[in-house]
Amino acid sequence: MMKRPLFTICLLLLPVLLFAEIPPAVGEMTLREKARAVVGLQRKLFPPTNNGIAGRTAPLPQYGLATVALADGTAGVRLSRTAPERSTAFPDNNALASTWDAALAREAGDAVGYEAFGYGVGVMLAPGVNIIRNPLCGRNFEYFSEDPLLTGKLAAAYTDGIQSHGVGACIKHFTCNNQETNRGSVDVRIGDRALREIYLKGFETCIRESHPWAVMSSYNQVNGTPAQEQEWLLTGTLRGEWGFDGIVMTDWSITKHNTAAQIHAGNDLLMPGSERQIEEIVEAVRSGVLPEADLDKAVARLMALSERCGTPREPGHPDLARGAAVAEKAATEGAVLLENNGMLPLPPGGQAALFGVRSYDLIVTGTGSGYVKPAAISQLYEAFHRQGIRTDAELDELYLKYVAFTEADIRLNEKVKIHLGIGLPFLPELSVSRTLIDKAAERNDYAVLTLGRSAGEGVDRTLKDNYYLSDTEKELLRNVCEAFHAKDKKVAVVLNIAGVIEAASWKDLPDAILNIWFPGQEGGAATCALLTGKANPSGRLPVTFARDYFDYPSALDFPYDKPSEGKNYDYTDYSEGIYVGYRHFHTRGIPVCWPFGYGLSYTTFACSGVKVKKNRSSLTVSLTVTNKGDRSGKEAVGIYIGAPSGGLDKPAVELKAFAKTAELAPGASETVSAEIPLSELASFGPRGWETARGEYTLRIGADPTTPQATARISIKSVR
Ligand code: BGC
Repeated sequence: MMKRPLFTICLLLLPVLLFAEIPPAVGEMTLREKARAVVGLQRKLFPPTNNGIAGRTAPLPQYGLATVALADGTAGVRLSRTAPERSTAFPDNNALASTWDAALAREAGDAVGYEAFGYGVGVMLAPGVNIIRNPLCGRNFEYFSEDPLLTGKLAAAYTDGIQSHGVGACIKHFTCNNQETNRGSVDVRIGDRALREIYLKGFETCIRESHPWAVMSSYNQVNGTPAQEQEWLLTGTLRGEWGFDGIVMTDWSITKHNTAAQIHAGNDLLMPGSERQIEEIVEAVRSGVLPEADLDKAVARLMALSERCGTPREPGHPDLARGAAVAEKAATEGAVLLENNGMLPLPPGGQAALFGVRSYDLIVTGTGSGYVKPAAISQLYEAFHRQGIRTDAELDELYLKYVAFTEADIRLNEKVKIHLGIGLPFLPELSVSRTLIDKAAERNDYAVLTLGRSAGEGVDRTLKDNYYLSDTEKELLRNVCEAFHAKDKKVAVVLNIAGVIEAASWKDLPDAILNIWFPGQEGGAATCALLTGKANPSGRLPVTFARDYFDYPSALDFPYDKPSEGKNYDYTDYSEGIYVGYRHFHTRGIPVCWPFGYGLSYTTFACSGVKVKKNRSSLTVSLTVTNKGDRSGKEAVGIYIGAPSGGLDKPAVELKAFAKTAELAPGASETVSAEIPLSELASFGPRGWETARGEYTLRIGADPTTPQATARISIKSVR
């Protein structure tokens, strides 16, 4: 663990100690009342209303402490499964990150905050700020990116949006919760530098820029101690260094932790809460194990939260049309066009053959606490019809019957356990005969094949039949491509996936590939608009698609082979250090399937007039983006910076700023600019954060491997 001299720790904690005001009401509470206040109200103690589905805080009205309703999740407000009300299912965070658009992330957060307020929620348990370290993590769709800057900036914008409605955001899971296998107690073994630069950085940015009202401490251990029991993390770093002024709540404990240590470390709220924990706190204070002052601080912070949230509200009836419009916009801009040999946009007229179960039953969002029961679902085949495009009636009938039958069969016979009881059963892909495919190729003008991957909390994805295509999927893809190509007709693949899959071995078979991730409830409409050219794709990858799983630097240090003890189960070594994602692939020149930042458009853009100015403590970078094609569209720009050689070992480049243009008409230009604090160029060495002096190189363009412009700047002094 990070060792600091006692003096430094005292200095860091000084502001926390000085400013932790304890309201007089806390002094009037009995010890048991204080203990009750910091332990969540068990679900059985409150009726399943729609506003506190994940839990709520215990009220002590005689002291002015009101209950606060806590609701998941990362794709919108998760309401009770049995309630008739619905909420909007938004695109998941990795789809939102693919927009590379902080303004849109704020808009999405704002739409979530609006519904959360309407349903009487006090704090949303979102966004997920963990780093996408390995493609198999079951909750990657709840996180933004492999890059901490993209993660932190978008999470901050999303948090601002939620909190603009007087609803708090609880950013999670702090920290290093990058695998679901044995998430309750796996020990993450990690060096200080990777911890600071990669795994804490996104949280730090989000906290400094948007001041979330809450942080959720994660289940896992970090270097031998549960994250929830680490004072240097929850108090020293979070509050002392970063100035966090909200509450820390534990994740919904699934293993037994040390209650007194959790409060002492800086947790203010133990969720979901049990009577046993109340007794343990009382006992710990009485026996002198837990200083009562720690408890007082936690109660004081909960009182401040209750004041921020105001009088508890009964669930109302927010206008869901508002969320639907934002969900569609975000799904459209979060989709990434990965391949296109001229097939897209689809020509007007003609009839489509839709293959793949997910063309008829989209995976809107993941399972577990990230699942949202959608207000409505826009299916792809329906969106085609709404846009006046005919689809093959025989295939429609076959797939719709298969979906209805299989879902009913799964539910009735419980053949597949519905994950955590929340979410949708996983429908296996349907095997379609070659004869039927050949006939479909005769009577249709092109094919669209949707491939899906569900995922969710508590389980990591597998390599077989998940990261890699299943045999049924491979056969379907091969047969559809062969049959349609034999008739000189084209095939587009739509990826409706939780996270990265293997694509290098088959990406050259179809004519186009569009990745829509988990696009939320408006996914069908958004996908159809992109395929037909009504909308121009502008999404860029927030993660690297490697050529193969074993190319990822964390491949062997992840439970890919489903261990049940030992390495990658009891402990996981983060031996790749800071070399996560493109930091590894780009620096070491390892070829990939599609790089970080990659994405195609129906138009082309050029960057010109790059200017880099060194100010006292920042750099200002500006450039002009021009639409050189014949369709309007938006462009994402990444500013990647490479540090001077010598000193600490560094990745070739790191993303230091990004921007997205407005919709640019053909020939139109926009000047984008970014201010980069010099402190953002620092690396975490043995003496703390250090910014090297010397010549820095800038690579400008969404994807660092093919920059549109380059520049250099010399930094002689750093203040
Ligand atoms: C998840 C959290 C979630 C909480 C409440 C936990 O199991 O890890 O992300 O917010 O449950 O549902």
